[in-house]
Amino acid sequence: MISRREFLAGVSGSIGGVWPLLSRAADESVALPGKEGMIVRSHRFLDLEMPVEYANLFITPVEHFFVRNHMHEPSTLDVSKWRLSIGGEVEKPLALTLAELLKMEQRTVTNTLECAGNGRAFAVPHVPGVQWQKGAVGTARFGGPRLRDLLERAGVKPAGKHVMFGGLDEVPGKVPPFIRSIPIEKAIDGDTLVALNMNGARLTKHHGFPARVVVPGWIGAASCKWVTEIKVLDREFDGNFMSPGYRMPNQPVQPGEAVNVADTHPATALKVKSLIASPSDGASVKSRAIHIQGVAWAGEADIEKVEVSTDSGTTWQPAQLSKNHSRYAWRRWSHFWKAPRGGDYTILSRATDSDGHTQPDSVPWNPSGYLINVVDQVKIHVPV
Ligand code: MTE
Repeated sequence: MISRREFLAGVSGSIGGVWPLLSRAADESVALPGKEGMIVRSHRFLDLEMPVEYANLFITPVEHFFVRNHMHEPSTLDVSKWRLSIGGEVEKPLALTLAELLKMEQRTVTNTLECAGNGRAFAVPHVPGVQWQKGAVGTARFGGPRLRDLLERAGVKPAGKHVMFGGLDEVPGKVPPFIRSIPIEKAIDGDTLVALNMNGARLTKHHGFPARVVVPGWIGAASCKWVTEIKVLDREFDGNFMSPGYRMPNQPVQPGEAVNVADTHPATALKVKSLIASPSDGASVKSRAIHIQGVAWAGEADIEKVEVSTDSGTTWQPAQLSKNHSRYAWRRWSHFWKAPRGGDYTILSRATDSDGHTQPDSVPWNPSGYLINVVDQVKIHVPV
């Protein structure tokens, strides 16, 4: 189990109670143009985490949007030669240019994209993989044609049950390429896009230029970057990044236990989760009047409420949800609190979604550290 207590012991307790300092001491701050201030989790394949304090806006600027690459980004790209192919179980295979995609009806979807492994650093016992803490998440306005419209043009055959995406990543050595699939029902949902734009501008290279898939409300891995190949299949794609990658155990497993792939299912929608953007963990605040704020999201569901505790979880008060509201996008929340006296406090946030799911105090351990959504917390010092 990954519980709030272990989270305290494993992160705050033994490392001085200040996890943002931990993250910055352990990793370098990035000097990458356009990505200043991000936390570098990996250089070899670029993995950048957003400091959680930046989760204070409805729309995350591209500069602060996390980056998750399993392999090298494409080093060269000639847009005039670039094509997006649609094939497999279709009547009429297509290959479209960027100009042709831009001529199609464009839809904008505001989506909170979160890496399935966000929070993995808090898993006890430790699990391998990028040691994301809180910031492998961001919200952007993605724009481009609906995947459904492309599939309609190609004419999906009745045998077509899953849709596979392949990108232009440069695959090092014998590593299997990053290829994944989604079920046809999600592929033809009117909000699933082949995005060309992010926050009103053309996609940047780190986020998949010239085109990426956006599968709203689902784990980030579903949203293939630098997409060039869309293939309709009669079954789920069975490559490494579908199996054993990105799967959850069907039943809770003992921490540290290996899991048989036959007893797993693919991770799909994100779970209800909240983050405290301010005050920062470890902060010595200036006054006893404290504005606690953050964000909360719930994949395909809506955020119903966010509660805040200022006494380590003994009592909870409702936070105020901000007006900005869009399906699949996080909701900002805030709560004003007057600390009764100086001292050390632990502040918690806990979200509940429209399906009645509330963030738990603990989640079952899983071997890849996926979908960890325990209540968030920060420790602060209030002056006497
Ligand atoms: N697409 C390709 N082609 N290659 C990748 O490595 N990473 C996936 C997904 N799409 C990946 C990809 C993962 S695991 C995540 S969380 C998101 O992209 C991250 O998107 P971002 O880098 O734009 O934040």
